[in-house]
Amino acid sequence: MSSREPAQVIESVRAHFAERYGREPEGVWSAPGRVNLIGEHTDYNGGLCLPIALPHRTYAAVATRDDGVLRVCSLQSEAPAEVALDDVSPERPGGWASYVAGVLWALRREGHDVPGLDVVIDSVVPVGAGLSSSAALECSVGAAVSDLAGLGLLDGADARARLAQACIRAENEIAGAPTGGLDQSAALLCDEATALLLDCRSWQTEPVPFDLASAGYALLVTDTRAHHELVDGQYAARRDACEEAARILGVDTLREVPASGLDAALDRLPTDEMRRRVRHVVTEIDRVERAVAALRAGDLDEVGRLFDASHASMRDDYEISCDELDLATDTARRLGALGARMTGGGFGGSCIAIVRTDAVDDITQAVDAAFAERGFTAPSSFAVTAGSSAHRDA
Ligand code: GLA
Repeated sequence: MSSREPAQVIESVRAHFAERYGREPEGVWSAPGRVNLIGEHTDYNGGLCLPIALPHRTYAAVATRDDGVLRVCSLQSEAPAEVALDDVSPERPGGWASYVAGVLWALRREGHDVPGLDVVIDSVVPVGAGLSSSAALECSVGAAVSDLAGLGLLDGADARARLAQACIRAENEIAGAPTGGLDQSAALLCDEATALLLDCRSWQTEPVPFDLASAGYALLVTDTRAHHELVDGQYAARRDACEEAARILGVDTLREVPASGLDAALDRLPTDEMRRRVRHVVTEIDRVERAVAALRAGDLDEVGRLFDASHASMRDDYEISCDELDLATDTARRLGALGARMTGGGFGGSCIAIVRTDAVDDITQAVDAAFAERGFTAPSSFAVTAGSSAHRDA
């Protein structure tokens, strides 16, 4: 985790704003990255997910402009962008700034009066680590626009869910990533010390207690530093396969296939690959329900077993793991983790493990050593607790 404290980042992003634009920002807003505890690739199937917000956040210093222009730069990027709001499209401004411009575009599409903005971004959410740096970026700016334009989209769960939908639209229609809504919902709706049970059919949410520390455990995140890119074809291919399977089965989404009806559904699918994709989704939704029950009952052993089963399903049936993720999860398990799984879109990125608090250092070192032995890029591991959703900081 970055050694920079929130207060330092807020101060620094304000100072950069003043330096770059020659005036003070009207405020600083932030939104968190997330880890999904379980329920992977279920969101675009109308299923269940169980994310927590990370303590790592993306900060946006923002002030309005009266000429309908967006100017945005990031301390993590060499490429500032400028675009008239009327001209925002999948091609303009393009690149990372499309995640910012897309949010303004989507809010305007929904009929909101959105002003031009000057924006400076600074982030401690690791980029490309499967921890939702893009949604943190979208939602930090979404939170700022909501406040500055008086849209009230941070006022309560229903309003926040509407802002999440605008950020999802931005990502799907302007940034061009066909993602499912888990990340933006997590950034806007999670709460401290709890996980968020997210139903991606009704978009209803429920808090679930998530306090490993009082039981002597920690959630250890390992950023494997392996490649992770959602705009490439693999994620879209998984989504297409699920939608095709739903069509064949005559249901709107795979959420409608109950675990008890899985075998009968699989018999109706044409290929082994499609059967394995569907088996992952249906069993994963079932595992979310079981994990929620286990967390409510304080049964961390069971949560750990479900983590392991989820990872095996993603490795073998959904085929979205990779050698680095398998090595990190295997190593954590070998050193006594209750369970370990990749989190996020897959094909690289991060994994999570439930480990005894006093084993965090040993497991971190063992994972580092295992990666060095295989010649992989050095990973980065850090323990996290559940943080808060998007809000105004200053
Ligand atoms: C990425 C996407 C999410 C979700 C996860 C997998 O993080 O952005 O919408 O599909 O992958 O669970």
